[in-house]
Amino acid sequence: MPPPARRRSHSVPVTAALLAAALLVFAAGAGADDGRTLLEIKKSFHDADNALDDWSGDGASPGYCSWRGVLCDNVTFQVAALNLSGFNLGGEISPAIGDLKSVVSIDFQSSGLSGQIPDEIGDCSSLKMLNLSSNNLEGDIPFSISKLKHLENLILKNNQLVGVIPSTLSQLPNLKILDLAQNKLSGEIPRLIYWSEVLQYLGLRSNKLEGSLSPDMCQLTGLWYFDMKNNSLMGTIPDTIGNCTSFQVLDLSYNHLTGEIPFNIGFLQVATLYVVVISPIELDA
Ligand SMILES: *[C@@H]1O[C@H](CO)[C@@H](O)[C@H](O)[C@H]1NC(C)=O
Ligand SMILES: *[C@@H]1O[C@H](CO)[C@@H](O)[C@H](O)[C@H]1NC(C)=O
Ligand SMILES: *[C@@H]1O[C@H](CO)[C@@H](O)[C@H](O)[C@H]1NC(C)=O
Ligand SMILES: *[C@@H]1O[C@H](CO)[C@@H](O)[C@H](O)[C@H]1NC(C)=O
Ligand SMILES: *[C@@H]1O[C@H](CO)[C@@H](O)[C@H](O)[C@H]1NC(C)=O
Repeated sequence: MPPPARRRSHSVPVTAALLAAALLVFAAGAGADDGRTLLEIKKSFHDADNALDDWSGDGASPGYCSWRGVLCDNVTFQVAALNLSGFNLGGEISPAIGDLKSVVSIDFQSSGLSGQIPDEIGDCSSLKMLNLSSNNLEGDIPFSISKLKHLENLILKNNQLVGVIPSTLSQLPNLKILDLAQNKLSGEIPRLIYWSEVLQYLGLRSNKLEGSLSPDMCQLTGLWYFDMKNNSLMGTIPDTIGNCTSFQVLDLSYNHLTGEIPFNIGFLQVATLYVVVISPIELDA
């Protein structure tokens, strides 16, 4: 049986060699795969206008960094931002999007996209901004979005999304803007959403949201924009409303709210409120 010291002296160079090889593979591979990923993503777009004409070839690094709508990290050549807004792409968002591990910003606003938001979007672990607004996206908001711990702006406005607002969105510690307006979302607004100190903008206008307003809504100490216009909210406006002192825009119009407008809503106007749109509401005192 060989002494332990000899065995160790053999294993060190082997480990070092393996490590070096792994580093080389990593260095060569970094970014290189992003080009192939982009070509894969392109396959699920119709791209009738050939807006992505220059997305061609084998996707070798770093050529794809100059493709239209692509912004790369200067050092790693990995895709940092993808802006295909207004390109009339049509088609769907490929699940391959989840392979873009360094992408910080995805803007596909008004790109004629349909189909569902792929679950794999939750694998874009560097994502801070996701704007998929003004498309024809359908299906649910994927729960996997809750994995995006760096996400600051989630803008899914003006689509055909159904189902509930995932309560797990409240697990996004950096979420500042949540705009889900003009969809077909139903169910209640998850109360956990109200316990965020960083959320600044909550746009839920023109959905089919039900239930009542929670007294917890004033726990949103950083929120300035609160738009629930045109839903199916019932019940009364909570008395705590006078404590929502950070709110500057509060729109509760076109719901089924009943009861009296709490007198202390006036405290808001005195404080920071500059637009209160609570009319017409169906008062049933
Ligand atoms: C790359 O460098 C340019 C200037 O050299 C800078 O303007 C740009 O922000 C950098 N981009 C990234 C993604 O780091
Ligand atoms: C994407 O490009 C459009 C127009 O070219 C611009 O208005 C928009 O701000 C860009 N998106 C981002 C996230 O920079
Ligand atoms: C999408 O939303 C982001 C964040 O609000 C914004 O910076 C960007 O300009 C928007 N895209 C377009 C095309 O307006
Ligand atoms: C309310 O939302 C529906 C779609 O859900 C829309 O057709 C209607 O124009 C909206 N009404 C108002 C007053 O915003
Ligand atoms: C409003 O906030 C104050 C101070 O934090 C607290 O004492 C009061 O109970 C709150 N009012 C309501 C109706 O929650």
